[in-house]
Amino acid sequence: MARIAHLSDIHFGAHDDRIVRATEAWLDANRPDLVIISGDFTQRARIGEFRAASAYLDRLRRAGHRLLLVPGNHDIPLYDVAARFLAPLDRYERHISDTLCPWFENDEVAVLGLNTARSLTIKDGRINHEQIALMRDRFSRVSPDKMRILVTHHPLFAMPIGKGGELSEAVGHHDDAVEAACAAGIHIALAGHFHRTYAEEARKMVEKAGDALVIQAGTATSTRLRNDEPQSFNWIHANGSADVELQVVVWDGAGFTRGNHIRYRSIDAVWTREDCDDADAARVPLSFQPG
Ligand SMILES: [Fe+2]
Ligand SMILES: [Fe+2]
Repeated sequence: MARIAHLSDIHFGAHDDRIVRATEAWLDANRPDLVIISGDFTQRARIGEFRAASAYLDRLRRAGHRLLLVPGNHDIPLYDVAARFLAPLDRYERHISDTLCPWFENDEVAVLGLNTARSLTIKDGRINHEQIALMRDRFSRVSPDKMRILVTHHPLFAMPIGKGGELSEAVGHHDDAVEAACAAGIHIALAGHFHRTYAEEARKMVEKAGDALVIQAGTATSTRLRNDEPQSFNWIHANGSADVELQVVVWDGAGFTRGNHIRYRSIDAVWTREDCDDADAARVPLSFQPG
């Protein structure tokens, strides 16, 4: 079984120091096989914010954690026009990671991160054809019994983001990206960006979505909350390629505690959901239907 902590939108510059420290304590206590952080490391891509994020990542690495990181739209300078267009991810590559499309593979899982942050599309993401080719190529060599996980900052699919179920923009080149994710046999698509926790089968959102399960993380440490959903991150246990448990770990004002706990099993390539009975778990809104 692979145990993965999926954090997102940590937003140094608009972060809560106490919660940052609490994530470290939680990760040290639970020792995931992999820590994924799906973008928005900073609030405004300022150098001081990148330094603070970098120090956090260094502390995690020193504690022995294996990290897989992708940039978010907030990691591109917004007001520094020269930096934005000439070297949009220069600060990210200097302070966070020089790999924009990272790869992790062990006996249980294969994980590919793709950078969706672009200078021209201020908040919406994009996937290019080179990245689509990379996805096809990487996963074509993975044994079929491993869980295949794709990580992006912007969700591949349009997501319901408002209380009324309004849909977000889908990532640029959405059709091609979804088709490639299908062809690559992606089991789980992880993303962030909306500061909302969410889990749903991709096929309920778009046609021809393949068998992917979409799992969104809320913001782990930012003080900018959406719809008052508290800070959280996802604790994912993958058993083979057809069985995954998702536990939302949620900030209750004093510490991280267990939230919604759901198990998905893929039967004939359809994910079937089962709520696990954690009577004392805090509840955050987890899965809501589009539209
Ligand atoms: Fe964000
Ligand atoms: Fe974002």
